[in-house]
Amino acid sequence: MGFDVEKIRRDFPMLSQSVYGRPLVYLDSGATAQKPQCVIDTVARMYSAMNSNIHRGVHYFSDQMTALYEDARGRVCRYIGAAAREEVIFTSGATASINLVAYAWCEKFLGAGDNIVVSEIEHHSNIVPWQQAALRKGAELRVVPVDDAGALRLECLDEIIDERTKVVAVTQASNTLGTRPDLRVLIDAAHAVGAVAVVDGCQGVVHGGVDVAALGCDFYCFSGHKLYAPTGIGVLYGRREVLEQMPPFMSGGDMVDKVSFERTTFAPLPLRFEAGTANFVGAVGLGEAIAYLEGLDAEAVVRHERELVERATEQLLAVDGLRIYGTTPDKAPIISFTVDGCDHYDIGMILDKTGVAIRTGHHCAEPVMHRFGVNGMCRASFGLYNTTADVDALVAGVRRAVRMLK
Ligand code: ALA
Repeated sequence: MGFDVEKIRRDFPMLSQSVYGRPLVYLDSGATAQKPQCVIDTVARMYSAMNSNIHRGVHYFSDQMTALYEDARGRVCRYIGAAAREEVIFTSGATASINLVAYAWCEKFLGAGDNIVVSEIEHHSNIVPWQQAALRKGAELRVVPVDDAGALRLECLDEIIDERTKVVAVTQASNTLGTRPDLRVLIDAAHAVGAVAVVDGCQGVVHGGVDVAALGCDFYCFSGHKLYAPTGIGVLYGRREVLEQMPPFMSGGDMVDKVSFERTTFAPLPLRFEAGTANFVGAVGLGEAIAYLEGLDAEAVVRHERELVERATEQLLAVDGLRIYGTTPDKAPIISFTVDGCDHYDIGMILDKTGVAIRTGHHCAEPVMHRFGVNGMCRASFGLYNTTADVDALVAGVRRAVRMLK
């Protein structure tokens, strides 16, 4: 199929914006990705020509909207390799997905003296909900450490995971270091002690995709907005047997079967976990984003992003005093760095004035900052629309910032 990045860029209207008179160089896709025109048009079309609430009306547009919403669920199901549509729950994003599990599953299955295992490179969304669940239940939060390259120290698993481990929650790709942990080992270790394996796919689903059935995880979550889809829509995949044992989390409309003041019975999967009016427009937008991605050569996208990272890594390392965090060989296209004697925030501000948008700070992953002894980093995160010219602009901007700051 090939890969024509200039053609792709024309699909993303935000990329033709200017900042301070300079063309925008968008290197913050790890925080949120830009949207192709087809997704923007789909959202506009839903509101201008289709809008009606789903699963409720007998009227024409309610029916149409319901069908589109459920089609989107089917598309997500196929895209992530789930066995059935019922295993795909729409949420507002990965944080909501993880909280759903941390409340509902932990409410029933986590007890005092149990433990939950996360890794040292998780972002806050895959730490805090588990920490809170552990606090509620008198359980313990345990952490798999990383080495200096940012790889998980899997040799420690035997000491960390034991028969009281109930949840192992790990990222598919670190939002800060780009590390892709060996999920096979982690999932097998969880299952060996009867724990559930939760995979945070926020960055991973974007860079290489996933096959949840092959992976064998119990839960998998991601946010639409990082996958070129609208904000406010996300996914929780759950293995059917696990979802069926899990009590509802949020309750209200659409998740019920029969309601009286005496008693409520609940809807079957997946609606049991979709209380209230869902973001049905967002779901259809997510389906459209996936259709857009399916129209591209996925392997060529991965190759393209890898080339960008290699180029950026080589050029950035030539900057005096620059250190890159996360050096595992197959990392996701994310580069976090600091420069001796320069504040990360100042570098970000100077880059911004040259049109280059990166993220600075702790990247919602403070424990990673603690691990590497810094209070913040600069992060350039790549999307399929970035170019070698973007890399060159980044490096030129960093050099300029260093000249100004040192
Ligand atoms: N987790 C998001 C990021 O990595 C917000 O920037």
